[in-house]
Amino acid sequence: MNTITVNASHTYPVLIEAGLIGQLGTQISSMTKPCKAVIISDSNVWPLYGDTAANSLQNAGFDVYHYCIDAGEASKNGENYLLILNFLAANQLTRSDIIIALGGGVVGDITGFAAATYLRGIRYIQVPTTLLAMVDSSVGGKTAIDLSAGKNLAGAFYQPSLVLCDTAALDSLPDEIFRDGCAEVIKYGILFDGALFDHLIQHGTSFDRNWVISRCVELKANVVCADEFDRGQRQLLNLGHTFGHAVEAQSNFSVSHGQAVAIGMYMAAKAGRKFGICSNETLQYVEAALNRFSLPSHCQYTAKQLTESALSDKKRSGDCVNLIIPEEIGKCAIRPTPITELKSFIEAGL
Ligand code: GLY
Repeated sequence: MNTITVNASHTYPVLIEAGLIGQLGTQISSMTKPCKAVIISDSNVWPLYGDTAANSLQNAGFDVYHYCIDAGEASKNGENYLLILNFLAANQLTRSDIIIALGGGVVGDITGFAAATYLRGIRYIQVPTTLLAMVDSSVGGKTAIDLSAGKNLAGAFYQPSLVLCDTAALDSLPDEIFRDGCAEVIKYGILFDGALFDHLIQHGTSFDRNWVISRCVELKANVVCADEFDRGQRQLLNLGHTFGHAVEAQSNFSVSHGQAVAIGMYMAAKAGRKFGICSNETLQYVEAALNRFSLPSHCQYTAKQLTESALSDKKRSGDCVNLIIPEEIGKCAIRPTPITELKSFIEAGL
């Protein structure tokens, strides 16, 4: 089993191994005595892993409850958030009890936000079941729900007490969802690690899961330790996201997050080349990696459409937006860009 320690406002481990869902009870017993444990999951994940998770917790002496939301981003809303809080209250959870997020990014984000706010904070455990959630959203304490004005607009920084990545859960992922996670994995290579990038190019989707997930979590943990509240270096993790969120929004979310991030990373590299930040060779490497994973690099939207969406992104700060631009594989720059220049950047990236 690989263990990565995250040293944020509190220190917690991320465990990575196949079969961890079946060990939930014993793993959680090492951090708390038996108590009430509420599993929050969704309509796709609960039928696959709910019984295994609940039995493991019951066998370890926990008093288990579960609450399921419909699978999909549309569920990450204020209504479900309040329903979860009311479920916790109806079952009289106290601060010595725990909540467990069993699922992908949507389940992890809404559960984390409920945990951050119920009784002003109750311990929660992330059990991510998608690649994207394992390498990104379950680690680092960003929790949120969506508002009608946009994604993740209400949330909190609130770190989990433990993250358990059961790599066997990846076997049940539909190909498209797995590739979504691959876009985030490629992102870590472009940002920080040429050796990781080379491994991905060489092996494609048959990459070494334990090593790659552990490496991505380690890279994310380093960034979160250095900048937990996203005021500096953590913004690097937004590579591909400013343009990507614009693509997602323009497509009315029919383009998946991973595909949109893939397009956004290519656009950032291409615009970077035009403005002399990114070399031609780096742009070609980025495109080659996306091709290797059958991820897109182009979209059908105009610079005007994408600029409109990008301007409503929450990462905008006053009259500036911090764009993340690849310089070379393993090194990216944070480039504060006046919003008046955003359209020409987007044009250059298309
Ligand atoms: N998903 C980006 C971050 O955690 O900062």
